[in-house]
Amino acid sequence: MTNIKWWQTAVFYQIYPRSFADGNGDGIGDFKGITEKLDYLSSLGMDALWLSPHFPSPNWDCGYDISDYCNVAPEYGTMQDFNHFLFEAHKRDMRIILDLVLNHTSDEHAWFKESKSSRDNPKADWYVWLDSHLPEGEGSGEAPRSGVRVPPNNWQSCFDGEAWTYVPERDQYYYHYFMKQQPDLNWHNPEVKQAMWDAGRFWLDLGVDGFRLDAIGTIYEDPHLTPHNVPMNLAELRRFSELAKTPKEIKLKEKYWHEMFKNQWGQAGVHELMKELRAILDEYDGDRVLVGEDDNIDFMGSGRDELHLVFNFPLMQTEGLTPDHIRKNQKERLSKLEALSAGQGWGCNTLGNHDSSRVYTRYGNKLHDTELARLHAALVLTLKGTPFLYNGEEIGMTDYMLTDISQVKDTMGSWYYHTIVTEMGVHPEEAMLRTAEMTRDKNRTPMQWSNNLNAGFSPAHVSTWLPVNPNYKNGINVLDQEKNPSSLLNYYKHLLHVRKSSVALQAGEYIPLHPSAKEYLTFLRQSGEQTVLVVLNFSEHALELDFTRAREIKRHNLRLLFSSAERRGGELPPQFKVAPFEVFIAKVAHA
Ligand code: GLC
Repeated sequence: MTNIKWWQTAVFYQIYPRSFADGNGDGIGDFKGITEKLDYLSSLGMDALWLSPHFPSPNWDCGYDISDYCNVAPEYGTMQDFNHFLFEAHKRDMRIILDLVLNHTSDEHAWFKESKSSRDNPKADWYVWLDSHLPEGEGSGEAPRSGVRVPPNNWQSCFDGEAWTYVPERDQYYYHYFMKQQPDLNWHNPEVKQAMWDAGRFWLDLGVDGFRLDAIGTIYEDPHLTPHNVPMNLAELRRFSELAKTPKEIKLKEKYWHEMFKNQWGQAGVHELMKELRAILDEYDGDRVLVGEDDNIDFMGSGRDELHLVFNFPLMQTEGLTPDHIRKNQKERLSKLEALSAGQGWGCNTLGNHDSSRVYTRYGNKLHDTELARLHAALVLTLKGTPFLYNGEEIGMTDYMLTDISQVKDTMGSWYYHTIVTEMGVHPEEAMLRTAEMTRDKNRTPMQWSNNLNAGFSPAHVSTWLPVNPNYKNGINVLDQEKNPSSLLNYYKHLLHVRKSSVALQAGEYIPLHPSAKEYLTFLRQSGEQTVLVVLNFSEHALELDFTRAREIKRHNLRLLFSSAERRGGELPPQFKVAPFEVFIAKVAHA
């Protein structure tokens, strides 16, 4: 483990600040609350925390629309609270990475306010501004003679309809990949780069350990403004996707999503930017880290000159986490990572975040949800690579479906609801059901700390920013689970401890075994010092397994490290039985 960096062996935990812990009793999470929970996180076994944006924001996109990059949102506290939090986290040997949103700012950011004020202000070129596209036959000029104003092209925002919004002060449109309150910065302008790198340095100087980089794929657009050729707009495509049932419709829907946005992301230039940012990080001590919100391994550059990690999203982008899917995913990812120079490639596995349905709900089957949640936790904690957990998954928090449009805080959800009701005539009841499913509010509800009113997130009777999922009363809360030795929370703790005590589980190679097994996944993690066998039985049957033909095991016995079934410790022969849904982890006893 000599050359291994802290971010390779660390387990990361994503905190969604608004929903984590309300320290001042106003119904919204804050730094006081997070700081009070650091002991919890440390005893759980977390090595690093990723904070979703904590900056001032009008919250059209829940903090991802930043109006000041060098400050703390007043509802979360002050700079002093932040510094205290950072100090306390570091004191407990926990690293902190922040969310850096590069593609866009809030439309309330001072940069944008200035930029939109005229065509010739000092920041006039800080955002992506374009004139009206003139209908056929009209020459270039100030205003179209026909009086018809047409956006520069048919690009859509992935959140709320057209990607272009008109500003009368400039008689021009600005571009936004996300909501209209999130104007895209013009990264071709060196002043923009400078300003954003300065913002990064501001936090690095304070001692943060790195950044999760938001939506990097969307930084540049096709310079030719090539229109998309999908015969629908965003709302229609969403609706089409919801109603798509047949394999043909499903294929078409996937094609349309790709076609609609392919000219708006993944464009040239972004690797140079990532190299610049990496060079800045490397000026600092302490192996600071960059994690890209992208699954493209190209963002790791040569392995030394761009990002340290990108998420393995393909692992979680599946209807069912089957052994076949996982093996295929690992084969593809690990071979690409190994191809990077000087063994610099390192994976990063996650099964959920603030944008996705919760693991417990998404991969449950309603019959064996608890068992499956345990298997999935074991998966992400035993595969090769750095695991990222999302707050609440350790107690089995589930999606919570809102029932009234007035409760919806995720603006992409309320926009969709109103659009399909008013423009497509969808019945409000159905529209609400669809909205509840598509909005990200369902997986952002307040953390459930106890079975007190409001789940101990806020004092009783305070109205929380999003409703608390009432299932906190049924044992889905930290306090109850801490007291119960067989809870999911104690299972996570135990597993995290086993991971931490094993060099092979943290840093070893991944060697798949039994490559065609349908019902279970099994692999070795092997480092110089240690070989560990992992078996995840995804089936509801007990299975007889035989490892006598595995070269690394042969006739050696296995020394149990962890089992989710009732097993006595000690040694087992390389042929043994696993219980339904068992997670089995053992050391190959070479001696
Ligand atoms: C990322 C964030 C998401 C946000 C979007 C725009 O995908 O994870 O929550 O809405 O970027 O910033």
